[in-house]
Amino acid sequence: MSTPLQQHASPASAATTAEGAPGSASPKRAWTGALRDLPREHGFEPLRIEGKLPEWLHGTLYRNGPSLMSNFGHGYRHWFDGDGAISAVRFQGGAAWGAVKVVQSAGLTEERRAGRPLFGGYGTPAPSWLSRVFARGGKNAANTSVMMWQGRLLALWEGGHPTGLKPEDLSTIGETDLGGVVIKNFSAHPHYVRKHKAFFNFGVRYGKDCLLDIYRLPNSGAASRLASIKLAGATMIHDFITTEDHLIFFAPPLRLNSLRLLAGIGCYSENLRWRPEEGTQVLVVPIANPEQHKSFVIEPFYQWHFCNAFEEGGELVVDVVRYPDFSSNHWLKTVPSGQTEGVMQGTLQRARLNPAAGKVSFTPLFERSCEFPRVAPQKTGIPHRFAWMAAHASEADARHEMFNQVAKVDVNSGHGETIVLGPGQYPSEPIFVQRPGAVDEDDGCVLSLAYDAASRTSHIAVLDGRRPGEGPLARAWFDLHLPLTFHGGWANGE
Ligand SMILES: [Fe+2]
Repeated sequence: MSTPLQQHASPASAATTAEGAPGSASPKRAWTGALRDLPREHGFEPLRIEGKLPEWLHGTLYRNGPSLMSNFGHGYRHWFDGDGAISAVRFQGGAAWGAVKVVQSAGLTEERRAGRPLFGGYGTPAPSWLSRVFARGGKNAANTSVMMWQGRLLALWEGGHPTGLKPEDLSTIGETDLGGVVIKNFSAHPHYVRKHKAFFNFGVRYGKDCLLDIYRLPNSGAASRLASIKLAGATMIHDFITTEDHLIFFAPPLRLNSLRLLAGIGCYSENLRWRPEEGTQVLVVPIANPEQHKSFVIEPFYQWHFCNAFEEGGELVVDVVRYPDFSSNHWLKTVPSGQTEGVMQGTLQRARLNPAAGKVSFTPLFERSCEFPRVAPQKTGIPHRFAWMAAHASEADARHEMFNQVAKVDVNSGHGETIVLGPGQYPSEPIFVQRPGAVDEDDGCVLSLAYDAASRTSHIAVLDGRRPGEGPLARAWFDLHLPLTFHGGWANGE
């Protein structure tokens, strides 16, 4: 499918010139201002509104991303390792209030007491061999996403348990295993299935076998473990996707060298190897009968994030940001340096899976570097028309820039529309909020937490879902920068 592009506002690449060392041949990019440690934590305070917020917009946007990248002066070696900071913006009656707090994990508390780093992370080795071998639990960075379940606010990180927070002021309660249910890890990508009135999530558990633990978090009642399924190898799975009746996993051909990790050699990320000859394992799990799951192997590729999935004519249709391999991990590793290496090559593609035949075919939907795809919440698990993403303006930007556009893609027509918020402004994952009484899928607002390099502060940009190219209807400004965030969510009327 071709993707004619309609672009609005000024080219982002011209706006994102460098800050950093004068005369440097390869200066740091402007977005690194958002990687400074969070300068101030605060509970809910009124935010300055520019423009006019829709009166109907009533609820809270939560975001999560790595903060405190300085790591007590030692600097994390990978973007994924900064301690999480949760932000929340409440919208009501045309006004907004914002709060932001660092997650006070047990590990961070211990480090603050010591005044130095004690733990490593995904891409940062622990400071000493002894700590690599004996502090295997490490630190729960709680920096990837956030979910609201049964009134509980949880910060998520795929290498450990969820962390409870108080919704009223974002202060940390502590880690939880959800009533003894979560065995080891709980991914940052739970998905809600309306038909089953429940969230589903997973965790990868390493051992003699590599197991996929699948969890169910119903609207009412206790969480439970739905299944534990043996994977083809010791892989890393970041996200999965759901239809109304199936959970779908693409397990990439990454293999973890657990022995090196146990011996204290390097960190987790450094012990992952790309093994394309092993192919990507597809796992299709019926929600009603998880023991009837199907597994087959397809050509190798990598994905961080899925967009949506649905069932059509006996096939499973899966929209996913697909990469040729795992090299994006190196680009992401170099983000904190402000001088990214490599290129982001993920593009939105549609996979049609035939589990009975063990076959898949891919069709491009948006042929430009993009990430953090979302659909309107009312379309999860069923056919959607619009996908919302953060995107790069050009291939050059996909090498050297943070995502600098919002993209709205009509997956039926192939029409892609990209929106630049403003010079030197960096949007994050766009979250669609439906207008009450809306009929059309794009009748609502799109919220994106953006960093403004000129003022070195962050704001929520509020776009009209039907006419995003006209620019933000309103911006709700913090008086400080928030970290560049990965994911978040919207809670209606809270
Ligand atoms: Fe993610």
